[in-house]
Amino acid sequence: MISTIEFSKKDGKGLSANTLRKVRSGMRRDGAVAFENLFPLPLLKKARRDVMRRHDAGELRERGLVRDIGGRYAAVLPFEGPFLARAFYANPKLLEIIASLLGAAHNIGSLEAVIARPGAYRQHQHIDGPVRFDRTIGKTKRPFHGDLADIPPYAVTLCVPLCDVDETNGPTAIWPGSHRTALRARPPGARELHRKFPVEHMAGDFGRSFLFDFRTFHCGLPNHSPEPRPLLMFVFTRSWFRDPNLADVFPSVVIAKRNLARIPERYRYLFALAPDARRPLWGNKNKR
Ligand SMILES: [Fe+2]
Repeated sequence: MISTIEFSKKDGKGLSANTLRKVRSGMRRDGAVAFENLFPLPLLKKARRDVMRRHDAGELRERGLVRDIGGRYAAVLPFEGPFLARAFYANPKLLEIIASLLGAAHNIGSLEAVIARPGAYRQHQHIDGPVRFDRTIGKTKRPFHGDLADIPPYAVTLCVPLCDVDETNGPTAIWPGSHRTALRARPPGARELHRKFPVEHMAGDFGRSFLFDFRTFHCGLPNHSPEPRPLLMFVFTRSWFRDPNLADVFPSVVIAKRNLARIPERYRYLFALAPDARRPLWGNKNKR
């Protein structure tokens, strides 16, 4: 069963070695851990208002990534308003956890909202990003046959539902332990996954969140309720990894120049993928 880490006030001063060990062992065993009270609830309520305002205005759908039909859509969110709060983007508990999983050289991969609208149906079972070491020799594809099951995570997604989630309004289904099979020369099919890894539905009250490895098989379940189900996906990657889901999306990290300038120096590295964090060596001269 996926472990739940319950944070208390004293964790605000830094996480204990024991808590970090629990996170790391949960991620190693299950490819997922759940959190209670990672973010202050008033902040999440503000985030919910912001996301629902953008959803109701239609501007989120307009910017939706063409990724999934079935009544749910994902869209990149700008780091503005509540997402510019340090308790969100540089949450000390979260950053300690991310560093313990991805090392010091990590950055934000993206911040997205996923809205499962009423009537959204079950999403296909998938992983978010494989690393493959296949080669092509002549016309033959040669997969890498070595064992990649033990490599530590290279990218993780923090899912933050912005409402209570129960069985009716579209919880995320996770197959704990399945991340260890995702990089096999021949990844497992649905039948093997169902047989080997009992599924868990990530339901819970508003305030609960969960972190999962990019290799963990998962899917969104149907929303049978009359309300949309908003959720944040906050992706962190090792600095060399790029999320293949956003290969044709630019920018994947959206923050205005003036807001980026206001981010304290010690957190600036998180925004390495924001266009304004990069040096334009050729300026605009080369533009036609
Ligand atoms: Fe996914």
